[in-house]
Amino acid sequence: MASPLILAIDQGTSSTKALLVDEDGRVVSRAAVPLAEAQPRPGWVEQDPAELWQSVRRAVAACVAPEHAHRVAGVGISNQRESLVLWDRRTGEPAGPLLSWQDQRTADRCHELAGSAELVRSVSGLPLDPMFSALKARWLLDTYGRRGLCLGTIDSWLLSRFGGEHVIEVGNASRTQLLDIGTGQWDERLLELFGVPAEVLPRVTASTGPFPGVRDLAPLPDGTPVLAVLGDSHAAMFAHAGWRPGVVKATYGTGSSVMAVGGGDAPGLCRSIAWDLGDGPVPAVEGNIRATGRAISWLADLLDAPAETLLAEAEDADTGGTHFVPAFGGLGAPWWDPDATPVITGFSLGTRRAQLVAAALEAVAFQVEDVVAAVEEATGRVRVLMADGGLTRSARLMRLQADLSGRIVARSGEHDLSALGAADAAGLAAKLWTLDRLEARHRPADTYRPAIDEAGRARRKAAWHAAVRQARPEHSGPSQ
Ligand code: G3P
Repeated sequence: MASPLILAIDQGTSSTKALLVDEDGRVVSRAAVPLAEAQPRPGWVEQDPAELWQSVRRAVAACVAPEHAHRVAGVGISNQRESLVLWDRRTGEPAGPLLSWQDQRTADRCHELAGSAELVRSVSGLPLDPMFSALKARWLLDTYGRRGLCLGTIDSWLLSRFGGEHVIEVGNASRTQLLDIGTGQWDERLLELFGVPAEVLPRVTASTGPFPGVRDLAPLPDGTPVLAVLGDSHAAMFAHAGWRPGVVKATYGTGSSVMAVGGGDAPGLCRSIAWDLGDGPVPAVEGNIRATGRAISWLADLLDAPAETLLAEAEDADTGGTHFVPAFGGLGAPWWDPDATPVITGFSLGTRRAQLVAAALEAVAFQVEDVVAAVEEATGRVRVLMADGGLTRSARLMRLQADLSGRIVARSGEHDLSALGAADAAGLAAKLWTLDRLEARHRPADTYRPAIDEAGRARRKAAWHAAVRQARPEHSGPSQ
């Protein structure tokens, strides 16, 4: 009989990827389908839930050859988090646009609820910030009504396409700001505070389900089991064998997520649930940075040059004393300051574009290090930082990260790490492999060691923090 395969679907902000993995963890085939974003007003970011579902169907159809379809033992899903969809419970049709995690329309409401920030943080583990789902839920319900409608994050929306019960995976639920991360259940006080009735919410389930089997996902036979669902950041951490205490990962995407398992805490960090593989919720700390890759893509648009060209030019360039704080839509972790604004400091008539790009790369590394330092406070000494995501292809960035952090940076050779993490978790659930085998499989592709001394590092960090202060003149330190 032909050997089994695992299909991973990574539904991300800018694309949906599908990966077919064999018993030895080798990627047999992969496909990606891009996904559009709309910005109907400044600060608003929307996607089309129907287009998103079609992107999943197209990615799977492009990835799975018909002759492989019957070998797929199960599906793992990883997905963009915090984004929210409202749909008609009876027809399954979307009742409004998907509000992206990047959407800032609820920023004013966050300010109004400032008096409840401590309650929100102590119960949900999250700061009051428009990134999270709770106020998006309220906005959708106020705008499109409640009768016969139901809400869900992207995992929930995709699973609803397969029919069966309205469910949400616990790690995704922990990013909504409506979950008590101590109990893993919706919290009455938070539901009341945000004005979200329990009836519109899905039932919270473990990362290993039970989930409905797939439907209408050709060429997979209907009923092919969904074995695991993880938030994309959580899935990337899983693929770094991040269940081991002491492993800290940074994903370099449009924004960045720095994450580690553990029940600790530190100012500026979020507490969430990494996953529940059937033996209880595993706590995690995380810091989300709004703009890392976004800083590079913004420069690419501005300078009308491909990002690859800019990165190649910046490979050996210095910053010429320029600092770029890409506070687009404010700053996330560890500052959580929606009022911060982007600044570029220290430039002159002699500043060249390679220096601006070098400053943007430094900003990525400094922002990540600010969060890693907070994670270190929460979980203990961090010697090695596991790195993944599109921007890790820049060797310059990896060298900078090691220098500016004073830590070893271990880069994953796999670009689609979230998808791989979803496949890992699904194959584990199918007993195709063990945690030990996964750990052996995911060795980093290369490592970077710090090449500057502590005094040089301290000087450069001080200059960076001076630039951050210019981006947020009203404040002076990490806040919640
Ligand atoms: O928290 C938002 C994150 O899950 C989005 O990830 O990879 O789609 O940008 P990505």
